This record gives sequence, structure tokens and C-alpha cells, in this order.
Amino acid sequence: MLKTLILFFTLWITFGYACQNNKYGTECSKSYGRCVNGEQCNPVNGTCPNGCAAGYYQPRCKKKCPPNLFERNCLQNCSENCYRKTCDRKTGACKRGCVAGWKPPLCNKECDDGTFGRNCSGLCGHCQYVAACHKETGECPPGCQPGYEGIYCKRKCETVYYGPDCDIVCNSSCRNRRCYSAREDCLQENRQYLHVEQEDCGNTTMFVAIGASVGILSAVIHVVALAIAYKR
Ligand SMILES: *[C@@H]1O[C@H](CO)[C@@H](O)[C@H](O)[C@H]1NC(C)=O
Ligand SMILES: *[C@@H]1O[C@H](CO)[C@@H](O)[C@H](O)[C@H]1NC(C)=O
Ligand SMILES: *[C@@H]1O[C@H](CO)[C@@H](O)[C@H](O)[C@H]1NC(C)=O
Ligand SMILES: *[C@@H]1O[C@H](CO)[C@@H](O)[C@H](O)[C@H]1NC(C)=O
Repeated sequence: MLKTLILFFTLWITFGYACQNNKYGTECSKSYGRCVNGEQCNPVNGTCPNGCAAGYYQPRCKKKCPPNLFERNCLQNCSENCYRKTCDRKTGACKRGCVAGWKPPLCNKECDDGTFGRNCSGLCGHCQYVAACHKETGECPPGCQPGYEGIYCKRKCETVYYGPDCDIVCNSSCRNRRCYSAREDCLQENRQYLHVEQEDCGNTTMFVAIGASVGILSAVIHVVALAIAYKR
């Protein structure tokens, strides 16, 4: 009888002891790790029956994932494109952002078209094709939209050039050789432009006509205003 009791007690101490509050071992003195879904660990040796919660590794799920691994049991590699290859041990979000060309937080997708650089925080210039803007560098390989130049297509054409990459000189018939940066039409000081016709840029008769009409209109307005003032 006594032998049986002692045996039972020993067995109970060693194996049967139902530890609570995430403890295990003799007298439940050892605290357990982070089992998945908050499960209780094995009461004898502290292992998690179904593995670890995100951010911890087996068998006891007490140790945190090293900086280049994440998820349950630390089985996922941080993205190759994480800056310094370190990510959040639970979510995989790259702690220090992405290397150039990749999109936060996981850095496993390329930058959206029109953006580039680290964390995709750069905005592409006026590339001829938005999709062609280089995701790492922001360069526009096939060139720029009319009116812009430079490898990033961010610089507007200087005044006497126009067209894609600003490589066409404005027509010599334009006054001061100035034309719109995106097309060959002559740029006019008064911000009107005339369609370029044979030696017709800066057509004086047209200007005289416009000037005259404006003059006449303003004269009429003055006369009317004066007439009203006199009547009162
Ligand atoms: C812990 O105990 C469980 C259940 O008895 C067993 O399957 C597992 O292999 C043990 N793990 C270690 C590390 O002792
Ligand atoms: C993580 O990287 C290691 C070493 O490069 C590789 O062997 C393993 O298959 C990768 N794991 C996953 C889930 O991609
Ligand atoms: C990228 O994002 C990380 C994390 O938010 C930040 O620490 C870093 O300064 C960012 N770098 C750039 C160049 O935007
Ligand atoms: C200027 O434009 C006219 C009309 O488009 C064209 O005939 C002429 O060749 C151009 N001149 C130059 C120097 O490009």
C-alpha cells in the first residue's frame, strides 16, 4: 500500500503534474516559451506540441528568431531585398526598409511604375514610357517626353530647344528662336502662339490687327463709362 502510494506520487511528480500558467517541469518551476495559438507546452519537457508562435523557434519556443528569419518556428527567410536583410521576426516587414527597387514593407514586390529607389520613395521624371523608368535608379532609358531632357527626364528644355530629349532646335523663323518645349510652334511674348507657316512666325499684320482690336474695344469702354458718368 505504502509502496503503491510512493510510486504513484513519484510518477505524478515526474509526469502527471498538470502545470498551469505556462510552466513545466518538476513543481512547474520552469517557464515555457511561446507556443502557437497560446497553447500550453508539454508539462514534462516544455516543448510546444504544435510548434512556436511567430517569432520563436523550436523546440521550446523560448528563443527569438535571428534577425534574418521570421514567422512561426522562424521558418521564413527575410526578403533578400530587405535593407541589411533584417526583418520583423513576426511579420517579416523589413526593419530598415528596402534596397533600391523594392516596395515596403516586405520588399518582395518591385516598385510601382513611376517610382524608384530605396523604399520606392523616388518619383520618376517625365520618361517617354512611365513603365520604363528604372526601378533602382530612376533613369529613363528610351528617353524623355517632349519638353524634357537628362537621364532622369526632370530637366525642362532650355529655351531654344524642344521635342523628346530637347534635341531639336527651334525654327529660326521663331522670334528669338524661342518655341514651346514640347512642340515646334513659336513661343510668343504675349503667350499667344501662331502656327508656324513659311516665314510667317511673328506675323506683324496679325499683331497689328490684334493690337487695333484691343485698342478700339478699350476706347469704346472708356467712352461708355464717361457717358454714364456725365449723365449722373
Ligand atoms: C518532449 O516530450 C514530448 C512528449 O513526450 C516528446 O514527443 C518530445 O520528443 C520531447 N522533446 C524533447 C526535446 O525532449
Ligand atoms: C531560406 O534560405 C535558406 C538558405 O538560403 C534556404 O536553404 C531555404 O530554403 C530558405 N527557406 C525558404 C522558406 O525560402
Ligand atoms: C526606408 O525605410 C526605412 C524604414 O521605414 C527607413 O528607416 C529608411 O530611412 C528609409 N530610407 C529611405 C532612403 O527612404
Ligand atoms: C521652319 O519652319 C518652316 C515651316 O514649318 C519650314 O519650312 C522650315 O524649313 C523651318 N526652318 C528650319 C530652319 O527648320
